[in-house]
Amino acid sequence: MQGKRILLIVAGGIAAYKTPELVRLIRKAGASVTTVLTSGGAQFVTPLTLSALSNAPCHSELFDLTREAEMGHIELSRSADLIVVAPATADLMAKMAHGLADDLASTLLMATDTPVLIAPAMNVRMWDHPATRRNRAILADDDIDMVGPDEGGMACGEWGEGRMAEPEAIMQAMGELLGPPAPALTDASAPLRLPPESVIIPPAPRRLAGRHVIVTSGPTHEPIDPVRYIANRSSGTQGTAIAAALRDMGARVTFVTGPATSPPPSGVDVVRVETARQMHEAVQAALPADAAVMAAAVADWHVTNAADRKVKKDGSGAPSLQMAENPDILAWISRAAQRPRLVVGFAAETDDVVANATAKRSRKGCDWILANDVSPETGIMGGDENAITMVTESGAEAWPRMTKVKVARRLADRIADALQDGAR
Ligand code: CTP
Repeated sequence: MQGKRILLIVAGGIAAYKTPELVRLIRKAGASVTTVLTSGGAQFVTPLTLSALSNAPCHSELFDLTREAEMGHIELSRSADLIVVAPATADLMAKMAHGLADDLASTLLMATDTPVLIAPAMNVRMWDHPATRRNRAILADDDIDMVGPDEGGMACGEWGEGRMAEPEAIMQAMGELLGPPAPALTDASAPLRLPPESVIIPPAPRRLAGRHVIVTSGPTHEPIDPVRYIANRSSGTQGTAIAAALRDMGARVTFVTGPATSPPPSGVDVVRVETARQMHEAVQAALPADAAVMAAAVADWHVTNAADRKVKKDGSGAPSLQMAENPDILAWISRAAQRPRLVVGFAAETDDVVANATAKRSRKGCDWILANDVSPETGIMGGDENAITMVTESGAEAWPRMTKVKVARRLADRIADALQDGAR
């Protein structure tokens, strides 16, 4: 972190008591730090502490005309190498997710394209609240990185997830995001300066430029009659994130999606289908491809006696549905004449995840299976996070639980490696 410039935003939570230590560690690592304190944060830590430890003024006012003349808020956020929000409260995360800018901290976060790392800290119920879950998903989608929160006892006496990550863990996350040290010319003690216009943030490496990847996503709907259908709980979140990650790495993506709740990403060729049989046809039509990722939750059966008109209840008992198996798109593409070089499947399991996924991999004939435990208590189906075990020819590799966006990026990287090596 030598020579890096950190802008540290301290929001209002009891965990703010840990930020002076964070400031000390940042400086000890050879980086400079400028602090911004929200009015809530000032209830827990004083501007004097932060400015003394950072050896720089602590900012808190949006409309401070003297400072505005010296250093506008735009400059303050853009001249940093990394913005760290610690603690990030539920309130500040909500503002970030929805673009509110009503104080210095939220305005800085809106006015920047500098990478942002947040260290959330809040009561476990606030962390688990559907509104915070939604905001977390939006922030992950916006490429905001997150460290923690940890599980443990809380100041309010409850136990659970929501404690801010320890300063050492925040330092480690910062180090990972900042990458190699800045050129020796940078003086860590120098005041923040506006970078020249010519400084641009390098785009994500386009390692999949010139490659075509087919991604299936979402559930399928199998009609019973014109108004009823058989479906499943897939939201399409994971498939959508995968298509976006592959696109960001330069791939041409054909995104074959069932009726999912998450909208398809921009910049991909979207083919909308309803049934498994339509999905199969769309995948066939999209070949040839370099790789295929079958992330859809395809219905296993369709109704063969689906009615043309709405089935009425006429007192003669419930209708009986006859069903036939749907084509297995993953098994089909794995043995197709135009088989993509790399075929990746998913396995939604509720028990014996690795054993079932390993068996599924050989049965379907694909190269990799990303297996996840979709038991209701995991919250994975329809949630924002995923816990993947990747099963390949050489065995099973457990990935830590992470957002579906991060799973997608990791998978896209692995696909780029495999296509580059010519390996599977
Ligand atoms: N899949 C597919 N076509 C189907 C069924 C599944 O392409 N008709 C793909 C899915 O997209 C996923 C993988 O196969 O990549 C495994 O899906 P899963 O639902 O876990 O397995 P099933 O094949 O349905 O097997 P089972 O019901 O025995 O678990």
